[in-house]
Amino acid sequence: MQGGKHIIWNNRGEIFIMDITIGVFDSGVGGFTVVRELKKLLPNQPLIYFGDTARTPYGTKSHETLIQYAREDTRFLLGHGAGLVVIACHSAASAATSILRQEFSVPIFEVVSPSVDQAIAITRQGVIGLIGTRATVTSGVYEEVIRSRLPAAKVYSQACPLLVPLVEEGWLKARETRMIVKKYLRPLRDRQIDTLILGCTHYPILKRIIQEKAGKRVKIVDASAEVARAVYSYIEAEGQLSEKSIRHEDRFFVSDLTPASQEVARLFLGNRVRLEMASLSCKG
Ligand code: DGL
Repeated sequence: MQGGKHIIWNNRGEIFIMDITIGVFDSGVGGFTVVRELKKLLPNQPLIYFGDTARTPYGTKSHETLIQYAREDTRFLLGHGAGLVVIACHSAASAATSILRQEFSVPIFEVVSPSVDQAIAITRQGVIGLIGTRATVTSGVYEEVIRSRLPAAKVYSQACPLLVPLVEEGWLKARETRMIVKKYLRPLRDRQIDTLILGCTHYPILKRIIQEKAGKRVKIVDASAEVARAVYSYIEAEGQLSEKSIRHEDRFFVSDLTPASQEVARLFLGNRVRLEMASLSCKG
């Protein structure tokens, strides 16, 4: 790499300059909320996605297992030419960010820090709520990062394990979904949070209902949008923004391909995605 650009020579000694490829991984297809935001800001940047649909969900897995999976997912992306890695999955980010940063030399972006920065920037009273999977909430990472930046903050967390399956079933406006969101948010409302972090890939899809049930005055932090902004700032600062004239084809790999995962992919990203089957051990 030179000045951030990948320089490649072919066997005739000709030089090619490649734009930096964004690698994104998630436990499944929920990370498409991050892809959606990345594509709004960086429409021309090449992107490769890996969704570990064979081993999803991550939100119920142990710390050690999440580290192992995150390591394998990162290797897969690097093996396919990613120049930076985005951990779209909050459960994986909560467990594995520091280990991945130690083990891999490429820049590693994750969903926690940018969301915390935004929450701290917009909170009025420093009373911040977090919703996520069990793995994310029990890791305590969000609390830790918030308190390291705003020691006086009050942080209240709530695991919402039913929300991921509801989104994946497409029950986005169902009465049951609204009731469950309301029940999960009740304890946070009672604590009078003024800011709420959506600490899971799937929750931006339910943003409207979450806003309604959290209360109008609560400010919502969409982690998928925040991490995309952080990646954009980095690529721009590195002078790496891809130009419109260069056409790239984004690739979306999953470790298990079923009609259901294709359907959920469509729900998140629209018709433009074609999922490809990939095994973690093969390059592809
Ligand atoms: N991607 C996961 C997360 O953001 C949610 C789905 C799962 O549990 O695998 O934590």
